[in-house]
Order: sequence, then structure tokens, then C-alpha cells
Amino acid sequence: MSKISLDGCAGAPALGDVICSVKDIKEGMALEFSYQNGDDLLDIFILRKEGKIYAYKNTCPHAGTPLNMMPETFMERTETYLMCHTHGALFNYSTGECVGGPCKGSYLTQISIQIKEGLVLAA
Ligand code: FES
Repeated sequence: MSKISLDGCAGAPALGDVICSVKDIKEGMALEFSYQNGDDLLDIFILRKEGKIYAYKNTCPHAGTPLNMMPETFMERTETYLMCHTHGALFNYSTGECVGGPCKGSYLTQISIQIKEGLVLAA
């Protein structure tokens, strides 16, 4: 699995700066953010699940599309896995590993974050 930092992305919070507040993320849902990274956009989502926070690049390792079709909604119907809505790949939300579908065994790219005093910080 790989992990990347927002450092160097235009408009992104600097290391240690606030991305969002944990309380702004509804349980089982995610907030989405987009930053310019050179010529590309870096789209990320920050998920709150069972009280913990996870941050991933919003790019499926199968064909590179965003995972979600609806804003803030990344979990499948049973809320057990993250799901890519393009071809249905299922991902473990705590590790980012694809556990079912066309990219089984690959991983979502994690975003480096830190949680401090109820805030999600760039790390
Ligand atoms: S693009 Fe995500 S499963 Fe194909």
C-alpha cells in the first residue's frame, strides 16, 4: 500500500494545518477535497467509520475512476466495505485493500493525516 502527502499540492493545507474537523464528517460518510497537483487534480476523501478517520485518494486502482457516484457516499449498502461504483470493487475501509472485484489484492492510496484535538491535519 502507498501513502502520499498533500505537501506541494496547490491550495492544500500545509503540514500540520487543518483539513477539516472530525465532527463535520457524519458516521459512515466522507468529506471530499480536491487539490491541484501539478497538471493533475488530486481528489481525496476522508471517511469516518466506527469513530475512526481514514483518508484515501479518490481513485480506484482498477481503472482510475473516482470510487463514489454520490457525494460523501463511499460505503456499499451494508456499510461493510468501500465500493467503487464503476465496476463494483470492494475495499477494506481500514486498510484500503481491495477484497473483491477486478483489482482484488491492490490498494487504495492512503493520504497522510493526523488527528489532533478533534481536527484532521495534513501530515
Ligand atoms: S474502476 Fe473501480 S472497479 Fe473498475
